[in-house]
Amino acid sequence: MNNAWRKSMQLKFDYNNMMKAFIGEEGFTEAEIKSNTDLAKSAFETVAANRGKGMMGWTELPYNQKETVEDIIATAKEIKKRFDNFVVLGIGGSALGPTAVFQALCHLRHNELPRSKRKFPKLYVEDNVDPERMAALLDVIDLEKTVFNVITKSGATSETMSQYLIITDMLKARFGDKAKEHMITTTSESRGNLIKLAQKEGLKTFYIPDGVGGRFSELSPVGLLPAAVVGIDIKAMLSGAAYMDKICMRKDLKKNPALLSALLQYLAMKKGKNISVMMPYADSLKYIADWYCQLWAESLGKAADKKGNPAFTGQTPVKALGVTDQHSQVQLYREGPFDKVITIIGVEKFRNEVEISRGCEEFPDVNFLCGHTMGELINTERVATEYALATAGRLNHTILLPEVNAFTVGELLYMFEMETAFCGEMLGIDTYNQPGVEGGKNATYALFGRKGYEQTLKEMQSAPAKQEKYTVTD
Ligand code: PA5
Repeated sequence: MNNAWRKSMQLKFDYNNMMKAFIGEEGFTEAEIKSNTDLAKSAFETVAANRGKGMMGWTELPYNQKETVEDIIATAKEIKKRFDNFVVLGIGGSALGPTAVFQALCHLRHNELPRSKRKFPKLYVEDNVDPERMAALLDVIDLEKTVFNVITKSGATSETMSQYLIITDMLKARFGDKAKEHMITTTSESRGNLIKLAQKEGLKTFYIPDGVGGRFSELSPVGLLPAAVVGIDIKAMLSGAAYMDKICMRKDLKKNPALLSALLQYLAMKKGKNISVMMPYADSLKYIADWYCQLWAESLGKAADKKGNPAFTGQTPVKALGVTDQHSQVQLYREGPFDKVITIIGVEKFRNEVEISRGCEEFPDVNFLCGHTMGELINTERVATEYALATAGRLNHTILLPEVNAFTVGELLYMFEMETAFCGEMLGIDTYNQPGVEGGKNATYALFGRKGYEQTLKEMQSAPAKQEKYTVTD
């Protein structure tokens, strides 16, 4: 991986279709960008000054994990020898990253391949407490050949802890003292219950650094262990993130894609563009959109700014897939309300190519496809959609990956994290908390009779009771 190769793998950020010159009235002018340079500068300086501190520990992950990475690689090697299934139990930031990276960098039918072709264990990411899903998982895995990775930063998340309890019970019943060989935990070293349980049970444990929040944790052991287990080059992923970090630390707004993109999104929000659509034109990047949705929603959706003033910030993230959603959502994107920014992710060179066969010369309406490839078709449709959106005056920009590999995926994840950090500063909010998630969590605790939540239960019981007349039953 030399410098020339790295440069050739650099992501491109094309924001032509955010500009007035290309999309008309809805677009931005050079003057508008220029007049907000100070805002961008101030966001940049705050991020630069705080990197590595407080909840910005994630900026150091590309650099400070040498020993952990070696441990992860050695652990993954052992797992590969003994096991056929690797099951992640986690939710939110503890699940979306592993899923996104697995889809991006493994064979798209990895779990269905025979072991001889797959070479690495199957990966399952279980991020819900739907009992049918748990039962279905247990129907397809052999416990003997399975290792579970319980991932929870807080070590307290009810959903993950319930999964931990169920699986631990099963493993102990089946393997007795050897149950611990089937369980690895990834959690905070300094807080939560999982670390205490892990120590009591003698479980192999990886730590999530204190300054790394759930949605910023993919490049920590949260994402690195599952990735290494399925054969992904995690060093290359971190190297891509480090490469992007250097780019994101450029002071020049026009040379810093994360800062520029954050500013354009910020300006769009100010003009009422409250929806951010993430639309990769590649199945491999489909779940990057899910991961992005959490990052963008939980980080920027805040009721108050840092000073406690009402703010009600954020954009609703929407995931879409090109070309699939051209036949579903693009109608709305092109003709519906002017309330969206569409981020398209393109891939210049696909890892596989399939030629479209010849064979129906007598039908010109079909024949025009013949002799082209599927890669050409998907990319042509991407360019055509960008054009169609632009001509309808719709804000859209494109991030182009030269190809999908561990390095470019590391770049992409890191770029979105930086964009979120910059945008949070522009909005003046705390990017790293999630007070809005607490409401539902606390109500669940209260309803389950958890100690300390008696007052919440009382409040719930005194809330207006649901009425029959507002329920349609027949
Ligand atoms: O970004 C966050 O902090 C959250 O969305 C968490 O990822 C999610 O709530 C899961 O938390 P934990 O990893 O503590 O179980």
